[in-house]
Amino acid sequence: MQIKLQPKIDFSRMPIANAFLTPDQFKDEYFFDMILGFDPATKAIGLVNTVPPEKMFHDHYAFYSSTSKGMQTHFAETAKKLLPLAGKGLVVEVGSNDGIMLEAWKDIGVSVVGVEPSANVAEVSRGRGHDVISKFMSDKVVQEILAKGKVSLVYGANVSCHIEGFADYLRNVASLIGRDGVFVFEDPYFLDIVEKTSYDQIYDEHVWYFTISFINQMVEPYGLQVFDCEHIPVHGGELRMYVGHKDKFAQKPAVEDWLKKERNLEQQIQILDQNIKKSKIELLNILNAVKKDGKKICGFGATSKGVIVCNYCGIGPDLVPFITDTTPTKQGKYYPGVHIPVVPQENFKGVDYAFLFAWNHFKEIDEGQAWFRKNGGKWITHVPMPRIME
Ligand code: TMP
Repeated sequence: MQIKLQPKIDFSRMPIANAFLTPDQFKDEYFFDMILGFDPATKAIGLVNTVPPEKMFHDHYAFYSSTSKGMQTHFAETAKKLLPLAGKGLVVEVGSNDGIMLEAWKDIGVSVVGVEPSANVAEVSRGRGHDVISKFMSDKVVQEILAKGKVSLVYGANVSCHIEGFADYLRNVASLIGRDGVFVFEDPYFLDIVEKTSYDQIYDEHVWYFTISFINQMVEPYGLQVFDCEHIPVHGGELRMYVGHKDKFAQKPAVEDWLKKERNLEQQIQILDQNIKKSKIELLNILNAVKKDGKKICGFGATSKGVIVCNYCGIGPDLVPFITDTTPTKQGKYYPGVHIPVVPQENFKGVDYAFLFAWNHFKEIDEGQAWFRKNGGKWITHVPMPRIME
């Protein structure tokens, strides 16, 4: 099914959100016009202009899943939950990154093969003893996997929305699961983005913003449907969808409930557009007031999401002089587009305010940095609307 996106929300010039830079790279930095589009026929919501995958996923990809303790727990729980679907067959994890979920499967005795095109993170998981194919999903990769055994479950967390050739990807997944297997995936859910005005989920890597309505249109040719779903609180709100053959897996009531909420997607996009513009003004008001008062501020967590907020709102080192992050590959580098220095988390001290770029990990962060509030420090967030947290 061909997808034809009509432009809806224009974010203007954006860098690659995970392309942390050294100063010598500033002059050749890559930018693209980031526009969110909608296709009324397929209900697709996605980026009108995309960045070539080789520019985003490569041997120096800066995102390592295992850096978050909260996500380790999430994946351990998910593996246990999906165990009945894994059965005795082979599990395939698409976008296995550094093996955070492969580890969880291994811990409960499930045989799993990872597919991960970013060579550096794939190598980390191989080092932990996992079977990983370091390629983009393709017909050939499908054959390579099927030669290993019958696939019971294909799982992907925060990867499916990255895949520009989504129709081909679903064809590959359909070949892997056949009539008996299940495809389970979890990605940011579009209605959460609207509800929280979390426009920072929209960046180069996220080509698609999923709804059940869209997925059902795309998998229908293979006799598949979304037969179950559940809302999960990670990454600011995701919908985990379960796709299986119509003859084998009856649709559960939860799917209908969510489909009702997905009516009027075009109107929801308009609401999001208005709220994003309001959010920018209010956030700049807060940051400018902090600056005017001579208070010290830094960013917390050099997330891809924060790159969008900074670039869209025009927040540079004058408003947020540095960002702390635990990821070694980000430290010592500069934030894409706005060139704010990123420093190790040990430097998180001596500030009055910290802007939560990693707002989706707030609970873990607030517990880990309990001293900050005790000493009078205050978090600033832009989700759902910009505010100093009391
Ligand atoms: P994510 O939102 O895409 O998972 O990225 C989280 C980023 O935040 C990652 O670069 C690690 C960083 N981070 C910290 O620096 N300190 C923390 O306590 C947590 C939880 C994350």
